[in-house]
Amino acid sequence: MLMGRYAEAYSRSNSDPAGFWGEAAELVHWDKKPTIILDDSNVPLYRWFSDGTLNTCFNALDRHVILGRGEQVALIHESPLTGTSTEFTYAELLEKVAHFAGVLYNLGVVAGDRVVIYMPMVPEAMIAMLACARLGAVHSVVFGGFAPAELAARIDDATPKVIVTASCGLEPSRIVEYKPMLDEALTLAEHKPDYQVLLQRKQHQVELDGNYLDWHQVLKASQPVTCTSVKATDPLYILYTSGTTGKPKGIVRDNGGHAVALTWSMKNVYNIDAGDVWWSASDVGWVVGHSYIVYAPLFAGATTIMYEGKPVGTPDAGAFWRTIEKYKVKGLFTAPTAIRAIKKEDPAGEWIGKFDLSSFENLFLAGERLDPDTYHWATDKLGVPVIDNWWQTETGWPIAANMRGLEPLPIKPGSPSVPVPGYIVEVLDEHGHNVEPGHDGNIAIKLPMPPGTLPTLWGDDERYKDGYLNVFPGYYASGDGGYLDEDGYVYVMGRTDDVINVAGHRLSTGSMEAVVASHVAVAECAVIGVADEIKGQLPKAFVVLKSGINIDPTVLQDEIVAMMRHEIGPVAAFHHVIVVPGLPKTRSGKILRKTMRGIADGRVEPVPSTIEDASILEILAPLLRTN
Ligand code: COA
Ligand code: AMP
Repeated sequence: MLMGRYAEAYSRSNSDPAGFWGEAAELVHWDKKPTIILDDSNVPLYRWFSDGTLNTCFNALDRHVILGRGEQVALIHESPLTGTSTEFTYAELLEKVAHFAGVLYNLGVVAGDRVVIYMPMVPEAMIAMLACARLGAVHSVVFGGFAPAELAARIDDATPKVIVTASCGLEPSRIVEYKPMLDEALTLAEHKPDYQVLLQRKQHQVELDGNYLDWHQVLKASQPVTCTSVKATDPLYILYTSGTTGKPKGIVRDNGGHAVALTWSMKNVYNIDAGDVWWSASDVGWVVGHSYIVYAPLFAGATTIMYEGKPVGTPDAGAFWRTIEKYKVKGLFTAPTAIRAIKKEDPAGEWIGKFDLSSFENLFLAGERLDPDTYHWATDKLGVPVIDNWWQTETGWPIAANMRGLEPLPIKPGSPSVPVPGYIVEVLDEHGHNVEPGHDGNIAIKLPMPPGTLPTLWGDDERYKDGYLNVFPGYYASGDGGYLDEDGYVYVMGRTDDVINVAGHRLSTGSMEAVVASHVAVAECAVIGVADEIKGQLPKAFVVLKSGINIDPTVLQDEIVAMMRHEIGPVAAFHHVIVVPGLPKTRSGKILRKTMRGIADGRVEPVPSTIEDASILEILAPLLRTN
C-alpha cells in the first residue's frame, strides 16, 4: 500500500474529483472562472469546467509576457537537417502568433472553424497551431509522413476553411514535397477549403497556383489580433488517430480541461517549472507533439525545443546528447524506439560520455512499451531516472507514470508505474469483471476520466460510445491489454485490437489490409504486426493469391509496397509481403487474426476449437515470428 504525496493526491482525486481539479484549475487564467467543475448532466459524456471561458493561446503566451517573462526564450528550433538553430522569446513568439492569427482572420477564419495544418517540424507549424487557438478556431494537424489519401480522409471529416502547409519537409535522405501531396489530397477530397497558405522553404520552392497563398505575402497584408474567449468545452483541436477500421478517428480536445490537465502535468509528472528547458523529441503531427512540444511547456512558462532531425545519423549517434548539453536541457521526452536506434549505433554509450549532461534530470519515454532491455541500457548509460509513461492520443496526457514532481516512486522495469491522479485504472475480463493482480485482461479506466481527455469523437458521439464506452459500461476501454501488480503498478503489454505500433507511430492493420486486398492478384490477406528490434513492431502481410494467378513474389511485394506508400504513406514502414497457401479461419470463414497476433507476439496460443484447418497454423507460425 503506497503512502505519501502521491497516495494522498490519488486518493483525493478519486474521492473528490471536483475539489481536486477545481484547485488545479487555479493554475490557469480564466476569462470567466468555472463554477461547474465536473458536469455530469449528459453521462456517459462528462464535461469539465463547462461554464468557464478562457483562451488557450493567452495561457500559452500572453500571460507570460504580461507577467514579465517576455524576454525569456519560449521556443528553440534546432534543425540539424538545415544546420540552423533559431530562438524565439515569449514576446517574439506572441507577436508572430498574433500576426498569423490576423492572416487567418482575414481569410475568414473565426471561432469554431477548422484549419488543417500539414507541415514539417518548422516553427511556423507551432505558430499556426497557436494562431488557431488565439482565434478559437480548431486546428487539425496531419503528420507529414501520411499519404494523400489519408490527408484527404482528414480533410473530408474536419471540413477546414483553410489549410496551412509548407513547400517541403526534410528527411535525412530526401526532400518531401508537400504541395503535390496536398494537391492530390484536394483532388480526392469532396470538401474544398477556401485557401491553402503555403510556407516556402529554401530547400525547395514551388509555384503557387489556384487558391494557394504565400505565407509571407499574406502576413504583409495583415495585422496582429487579440485572443477570442471561448468556452472551456469548445474544441481546441481534432487529432486523427488510427482505429480498427480504415476510417481515422477524430479525437477532440477541449480548451479548458486541456489547459488545466497539461499545466498540472508539466510540474507534477515531468517536474518542469517556468524557466526550465524541456525537449520533447517527437513530431507536432502526433499527440506527444501537441501536448509536450507545444502546449504544456508553454503553459508552464518553460523553454521548449522543437527538433527537426533523427536521433541517429543527423549528424551522428550523439545528436540527442549534444543538444542536451547545448541548451542545458532538464527533461527529454521521446519514444523507446529512438533509444533503441541510438543503442544500436552506440552500444557502449561512447557518444554519451562526450557531452556534459549535468543539467539533465530525467529521460521520459512513451508511445510504445518500454522493454526492460532498453530501460536498463538507458539507465546504465545515462545515469538519470528513465521514466516510462503510458497514454494515448485519446487521453492527451499520461494515464500512468512515475510522477517526478509530485513524488518519485520506485521504478519497476516493464511498468509505467502507477495511475496518475484522475485515472482509476482497472483490469477487466471479457465479461467486465475485475481480474486478480498479476492476471492479464483489458485495461479500462473508470468514468469520468480526468480533464484533458477526449470528450468525444469529432461529429460522432455514437462512434465514441460504441468504440470506447459501451464495451464495459461505466468505463473507458483503452484498447490495451495488461495487468496490475500487488502494488498497483500497471503493466501495459500491447493492444487488444488491430492497431499496431511502429516506431511509436500508431497504425491500423485494417486500413493496410484494405490496400493489400486491392491488388488484383490478392484473394485474401491479413496484416499482422511482427516484432522488430528497432521499431518495436513492423507490419507484415500474409496473402493468398487468386486461383490461377502466377506472379513473382518479389514483383508482388514491390507492387504492394508501392501501393502502401501511396495510399497510407512511408510512415507505415511496410516492406514485407508473404504468399501463403491459406489463412487460419473459423469454419464460418472468419480469419483468426487474434491467433496470428498471439503467435507473432511469442505467446503460446490455444488453437481455437472453431478452426477450419489447424495445419495452416504450423506453416504460418515460423513466418509470423521472424522479421
Ligand atoms: N514526412 C515524410 N516522411 C516521413 C516523415 C515525415 N514527417 N517521418 C517519417 N517519414 C518516413 C521516413 O523517411 C521513412 O521513409 P523511408 O521508408 O523512405 O525511409 C518512413 O517514413 C519511416 O519513418 P520512421 O518510422 O521514422 O523510420 P526511420 O527509419 O526514418 O527512423 C526512428 C526510425 C526510430 C529513428 C524514428 O522513428 C524516430 O526517431 N522515432 C522517434 C520517436 C517518435 O517520433 N515517436 C512519435 C511519438 S512519441
Ligand atoms: P498513440 O495514440 O499514438 O499515442 O498510441 C497509443 C498507444 O501506444 C497505446 O494505446 C499503447 O498501445 C501504446 N503505448 C503508448 N505508451 C505506452 C507505454 N508507455 N507502454 C506501453 N504501451 C504504450
